[in-house]
Amino acid sequence: MAEVAVIYPGSFDPITNGHLDLIRRGSQLFDRLVVAILTNLEKEPLFTIDERIDMLQLVTEDIANVSVDTFSGLLVDYARQKQARAILRGIRAFSDYEYELQMALMNRKLEPRLETVFMMPGESFAYISSRLVKEIFHHGGPVKGLVPPLVEDRLKQKFPARAAQMR
Ligand code: PNS
Repeated sequence: MAEVAVIYPGSFDPITNGHLDLIRRGSQLFDRLVVAILTNLEKEPLFTIDERIDMLQLVTEDIANVSVDTFSGLLVDYARQKQARAILRGIRAFSDYEYELQMALMNRKLEPRLETVFMMPGESFAYISSRLVKEIFHHGGPVKGLVPPLVEDRLKQKFPARAAQMR
């Protein structure tokens, strides 16, 4: 049987423990999981694409069937090019649902052969988002347990002054 590949797309600015939990869960369901970082973000990112690739590669290096890539343009075009059968997205709370449903249905309209699979992160990660991690760090709060230790170190390297204020 042909292998089943899934794309896990996002901005990953930076990767959190919630993302990592989903990657681990997804990698057990699919033969191949590609973490795909969107490069043409409208918002101003904190980490460059190269920094995000590096962090993602390092924190997933122990998972054999996971690879890291970038994409621009439409997700469905990228998924087609990668011969992926599905898109993986995480749902944390009800508030995620509306946006995710809209995207999933629009992607299905654009490419009916591509399924979107939703998974829930472990409950201890349900409240984590990259946006909140950045906000907490920005104000000198602790991000331990919210992101992999390597990401915490990279945040501290990027903002040594903030790291010094951290409780
Ligand atoms: O981590 P994010 O920011 O929630 O990820 C959003 C992402 C990258 C999945 C979404 O913005 C996306 O797929 N962008 C690519 C452009 C595209 O295909 N847009 C139409 C989606 S219906």
